[in-house]
Amino acid sequence: MNAFASPASLTSVVPVFFLFLILFITHPVHSERCTLCSEAFMMTAKHRNVTCRRKLMTLDAELGWRVSSFNSQWTRIDVVFGARLRSDTGWLAWGVNPLPKPQMIGTRAVIGIRQPNGTLSTNTYNITSDTKMGCHLLPTAVDVEVRDTEASYIEEEQYFTLSATVIVPDSGYNISKLNHVWQVGEEADGMEPKKHPMTLQNFDSTETRNLWSGESEDVGRKNHQSYLRKVHGILNMIGWGTFLPIGVIIARYFRKHPFHLKNWWFKIHVMCQILGYFVGTAGWAIGLILGTKSPYYIFHVHRWLGIFIFTFTTLQMLALRLKPSVNDEYRKYWNMYHHLLGYALLAVIILNMFHGIAILKPDNAVWNWVYIGILVLLSGVALILEIHTWIKFLNDRNGSKK
Ligand code: HEM
Ligand SMILES: *[C@@H]1O[C@H](CO)[C@@H](O)[C@H](O)[C@H]1NC(C)=O
Ligand SMILES: *[C@@H]1O[C@H](CO)[C@@H](O)[C@H](O)[C@H]1NC(C)=O
Ligand SMILES: *[C@@H]1O[C@H](CO)[C@@H](O)[C@H](O)[C@H]1NC(C)=O
Ligand SMILES: *[C@@H]1O[C@H](CO)[C@@H](O)[C@H](O)[C@H]1NC(C)=O
Repeated sequence: MNAFASPASLTSVVPVFFLFLILFITHPVHSERCTLCSEAFMMTAKHRNVTCRRKLMTLDAELGWRVSSFNSQWTRIDVVFGARLRSDTGWLAWGVNPLPKPQMIGTRAVIGIRQPNGTLSTNTYNITSDTKMGCHLLPTAVDVEVRDTEASYIEEEQYFTLSATVIVPDSGYNISKLNHVWQVGEEADGMEPKKHPMTLQNFDSTETRNLWSGESEDVGRKNHQSYLRKVHGILNMIGWGTFLPIGVIIARYFRKHPFHLKNWWFKIHVMCQILGYFVGTAGWAIGLILGTKSPYYIFHVHRWLGIFIFTFTTLQMLALRLKPSVNDEYRKYWNMYHHLLGYALLAVIILNMFHGIAILKPDNAVWNWVYIGILVLLSGVALILEIHTWIKFLNDRNGSKK
């Protein structure tokens, strides 16, 4: 069977593969200065006289503002906020947060809602921990003053703009490090905005910005985080998503039927599982680090499935040391357990991979196609081998009948 790669040649291919991938993931530079703001946004920005304009890091949102002194204790911010809203009903929110770090809870927000009949309503809302837990979010007065609120929706571009004059007290809000939060939701009921989607873009829509200089404090950190996320995704896709299933295919089709690789199948199987396990664990560990870096949100399902996968693959790896010997009477049951857990793990891995990719909505298309490509390739190979096994089995049976 010299048509198959020996473990030695496989180990030399792997580093090259990694190098290629690392080169492939370059740091994304989130555009800062908004040189190409959308026309819809610029219309309102001109009308509102805002002097500073920036593209925000998520949700394709754009922010424009002008700061002026209101009186000795208050500062006036003329603000324009815009983003695409694709659904018929939905809402757009922008707000300031007096807490030490920008986050959803504590935000004093202006929210514009697009009603099903096309009318636009705007109001102020006090976002509290109750809101996050799912209590109705209804308009209230807030401790910043909001005047001249306007909303506009441009049908052709599906672009929603919100503009207002926000007057903030100097105690509590520091213009040179203002915590602000933005959000886009796709559901509303009258004056009540309903929960926004639960994707990364919706969670990363906070920052601390110096409104005098225009610079955001978070750009470096967020770029680093987005780099780590890519490494996390790639390592998991290679480790859990590629090597582990290849190892299973080797064990299923090269142990006895249809191909008999004598001692090789076991060596290749173990090597694939060890490689998959270590690469996957590295990706998993980066995932845990990413989790600690976002104190205000957790992707519960993705996280628990990841912990489950890690725990039970560790158990599978213990097979290297703990499996009963070939002659042991328990070996039959042990084999059954090892195989069943193996297939179950593949299913959970596939589930969690798609779960993780969905978190990246709406820019998850490339990830989706790459992973679907891997799955199609692997299951194609498995299908061919399965059919081959059956043909061989039937032929052998017919042969023995004659
Ligand atoms: C309308 C009702 C709303 C509900 C039910 C809701 C619910 C939630 C939930 C459950 C999370 C994720 C928590 C987690 O996974 O740990 C979250 C995160 C977040 N939401 Fe909301 N939300 C609402 C409105 C808003 C509004 C109006 C804004 C913006 C002004 C906003 C901004 C954020 C941000 C920035 C995050 C990221 C985590 C954080 O900073 O706390 N949300 N929301
Ligand atoms: C914008 O500035 C122009 C001229 O500087 C002024 O006439 C106009 O009233 C201002 N508009 C607003 C909304 O402040
Ligand atoms: C549209 O709906 C809103 C809320 O449901 C209502 O307040 C408003 O009067 C309606 N506008 C028109 C033009 O029907
Ligand atoms: C808004 O909510 C905060 C708690 O997050 C509370 O301290 C504050 O008094 C509320 N403001 C108003 C006007 O209700
Ligand atoms: C606002 O923040 C800047 C920069 O951190 C700091 O130098 C300044 O003292 C702060 N101003 C107030 C009023 O806290």
